[in-house]
Amino acid sequence: MTKLLTVRIPATSANLGPGFDCMGLALDLWNTFELHQGNGAGITVESHGEGEDVLPNDKSHLVVRTMIEELTNSMPFDPRHQSYHIVCRNAVPCGSGLGSSSTAVLAGLLFAGAILDPHGFRSAAGLSRTLKRAFEIEGHGDNVAPALLGGLVIVVGHDGEVITHRIVPPPTRVVVCVPRYHFMTSHARSVLPLHYSRSDAVFNVGRAMLVVEALRNGDGALLARAMDDRIHEPYRLPAIPGAIEAKRAALACGALAVALSGAGPGILAFAQENHDAIGQAMQSAFASAGGVSARYWVLDVASSGAQIFV
Ligand code: HSE
Repeated sequence: MTKLLTVRIPATSANLGPGFDCMGLALDLWNTFELHQGNGAGITVESHGEGEDVLPNDKSHLVVRTMIEELTNSMPFDPRHQSYHIVCRNAVPCGSGLGSSSTAVLAGLLFAGAILDPHGFRSAAGLSRTLKRAFEIEGHGDNVAPALLGGLVIVVGHDGEVITHRIVPPPTRVVVCVPRYHFMTSHARSVLPLHYSRSDAVFNVGRAMLVVEALRNGDGALLARAMDDRIHEPYRLPAIPGAIEAKRAALACGALAVALSGAGPGILAFAQENHDAIGQAMQSAFASAGGVSARYWVLDVASSGAQIFV
């Protein structure tokens, strides 16, 4: 099988407390996707590593679905003449709040881009088109933007365009603890109110700005005071067994600041030391208070986003 392209895309943690739907951080844990020439059977896929037992191996796989949709938007797609095989090597746990679906959406878009525009898809304009499409597909950009660009990214939609601002924070290490609990993003969004009070909006706006400054400057003391939220965590944390206790346990063990990672169920803790102890404390809290087992990862922030190898 001839390999045409490989892309590596990092995990991401979105929201970062008060920045609901507007900011995310790339983390040094990567999914790798290979695009090979196929054998005349349309687009086929295999998955290894995280999710290999549950991910579909047909065209309902998110990479394949995204790729076919992009290709058919631009040209008639004939599986007899355009056949591809995709190999996914996944390190990012699925359904964890670490942006695994965003890695799949981006891989599908980049593969389609490489086929439709082999010379332009890696250019600044090509990548900006990819981001715009990923934003449209996801409905928000706080996973796809940091996954594509790396570092800390602020991202908002504006008149059909996507505005991003990327910051590379000083070396920052986090712990992410993920319980074995099924908490679908669609459900996590459905538990949120439709309207918020002005005081809750002001609470979040100010803190979101402070979190950006704290991360930009590596200011742990500021992060500790600023990372709090009234838009989503008060509604989501109680719905995840053991999450409130895991957050409390991480703080008691010396974490500077703790947030729900994306829509959860993973919990993200910032710390200067004792990362393993913090991970173990969260695991124990999930087990004792929530009755669920959990895994944890100690991860650095990834300063680079998606990597493309042709
Ligand atoms: N900002 C999104 C949410 C991230 O919290 O629902 C998950 O896709």
